[in-house]
Amino acid sequence: MDANAQKKAAAEAALQFIDDDMTVGVGTGSTVNFFIDALASKRARVKTTVASSEASAQRLRALRIPVSELNDTDGCDVYVDGADEVTEHLAMIKGGGAALTREKIVAAASRRFVCIADASKLVGVLGRFPLPVEVIPMARSFVARQLVKLTGGVPELRAGVTTDNGNLVIDVRGLSILKPMELEADIGLIAGVVENGIFARRPADVLLLGTDQGVRTINRPK
Ligand code: 5RP
Repeated sequence: MDANAQKKAAAEAALQFIDDDMTVGVGTGSTVNFFIDALASKRARVKTTVASSEASAQRLRALRIPVSELNDTDGCDVYVDGADEVTEHLAMIKGGGAALTREKIVAAASRRFVCIADASKLVGVLGRFPLPVEVIPMARSFVARQLVKLTGGVPELRAGVTTDNGNLVIDVRGLSILKPMELEADIGLIAGVVENGIFARRPADVLLLGTDQGVRTINRPK
């Protein structure tokens, strides 16, 4: 099975977590696009959705699935999103699609987080995927210098990318993130950082991993 088939299988398996009248948080990326397509079959039974990006909102609307602002809901019953890397403890690196800040907000405002991914995303230690950091434009150089000091990694501005919030993304290469909760908090303390792509303080609750042997379910260890 290729990666796309694994993504599609994981995305379709996520439908089991969608009950009638739920408010569904919807993430961003190619795996989530498969989920949005599958969700269309339940459009009449979903109360509404909250999208983590303009791209996902557009795709939802194109399929006549209702979309609301997070502010107009009391949070989401479930949030379904992909990951760039995920560990067996369900900590993740996200933000490959530059939507990390809205993704972290919707994840925080959701009662359950279902991560959907192909098998290549499961890692022992986070950090081979460059860590995305969303920054206020005027702080770009300062934040890059602070990231070098804090992480020892190599920051690089993601060329030609502006987030849905009007900010820039710096990708930090060369990391081996042994303490994701601590690093997530420490990067967040740098002035000018809006968010970083470590999702450890609010990890996923369940991972649906598409593999050649079928969809593997991994629950977050208690
Ligand atoms: C977007 C994300 C995505 O979840 C992540 O990049 C995975 O994308 P894909 O499903 O295309 O592999 O964090 O900001």
